[in-house]
Parts: sequence; structure tokens; C-alpha cells
Amino acid sequence: MEKIYRLLYPMKVVLLTAKHEDKESIMPAAWCFPLSADPPMFGVSVAKKRFTYSLVKGSGRFAINIPTPEMKEGIIKCGTTSGRETDKFAETGWKKEEGKLGIPLVGECSASVECSLDREIETGDHFVLIGRVENVIKRKEAKGIYQVAGTEFTEL
Ligand SMILES: Cc1cc2nc3c(=O)[nH]c(=O)nc-3n(C[C@H](O)[C@H](O)[C@H](O)COP(=O)(O)O)c2cc1C
Repeated sequence: MEKIYRLLYPMKVVLLTAKHEDKESIMPAAWCFPLSADPPMFGVSVAKKRFTYSLVKGSGRFAINIPTPEMKEGIIKCGTTSGRETDKFAETGWKKEEGKLGIPLVGECSASVECSLDREIETGDHFVLIGRVENVIKRKEAKGIYQVAGTEFTEL
């Protein structure tokens, strides 16, 4: 199938973090977008088969972390392994911070946005997870990292 969605690239990469019971994961996502300013809401489109989807479904919450260009190697690692069998915090060496909702946050990121799952919409092979912003942590000013294609990135 032709990747028509590539017409919209480059797209900013976020790190979706989620935890349910004793399982957690960090999932890079380029399909993340604001949906409402007031109340603040975000959407992220997650493939049905992702482990991270099952964690969000189980806990009803997730966080959107904004990585910096220096985190590229870790982004590739997290995007090519699954939290089903990999401890991604251990693999990347990133600092795990605990947010207000009990979700792990990535301490190296310039910001983290904690969301409760408001609803989800099934769209073909993905679910759009719609999150209501519950808490925002701003750590520093930094450039973002954008996916151009596959493991090719640019920064802005
Ligand atoms: C830069 C980048 C962007 C990605 N964007 C998305 C995305 O928006 N939605 C999605 O479902 N998967 C996306 N992926 C794929 C997941 O991050 C990848 O399948 C990951 O290993 C899933 O981890 P999990 O099994 O722990 O959920 C992306 C991967 C990379 C490297």
C-alpha cells in the first residue's frame, strides 16, 4: 500500500508513555496533534497492535513527552522494540519521573503532558486516543525532533 500519509511529513515526534499494573512502555509517535485549546486536548493515533495501546486502554491515561534532537538514538530504540519484552527506560538510560497520574515521564524531555483518556475513535488500523490534559510539566526550552521518513530525522 502506498504511504500517502508521507505527504504530510516531516512530523514532530513525541514519546507516548503509559503504564498499567506493573507494565509500562515508551512509544515514539509522529501522529500526534492538538484537538482543542479549551479545554486542552490532544489526539494520538496508535496502531491497534501496539503494546502501548493495551496499556492506555487498561489504565485510561497516558503522557505525551516532547523529546529533544539528542534523544534520536533512544527514539529509534523505543520505536523498534516493544515494551512487551523490553524495559525501555533501562535500554535508553533515560530518567524515569513519576507524574501526578502515576504514569512514568521521560525526564530528558523538554516537556511532558499528562492526559486522561477521554475517548477513542477506531480509524482503520489505528485508534485515535483522545486525551484531556490533566497536568503539564515544562522543563526547558529546546528544539524538537521531526521524522522525515523511517529513521531519518530533522530538528527545529
Ligand atoms: C519516529 C517514529 C514515529 C512513530 N510514530 C508512530 C505513531 O504515530 N503511531 C504508531 O502506532 N506507531 C508509531 N511508531 C511505531 C512505534 O513507536 C513502534 O512500533 C514501537 O516499537 C511500539 O512500542 P510498543 O510495542 O511498546 O507499544 C513510530 C516509530 C518511530 C520510530
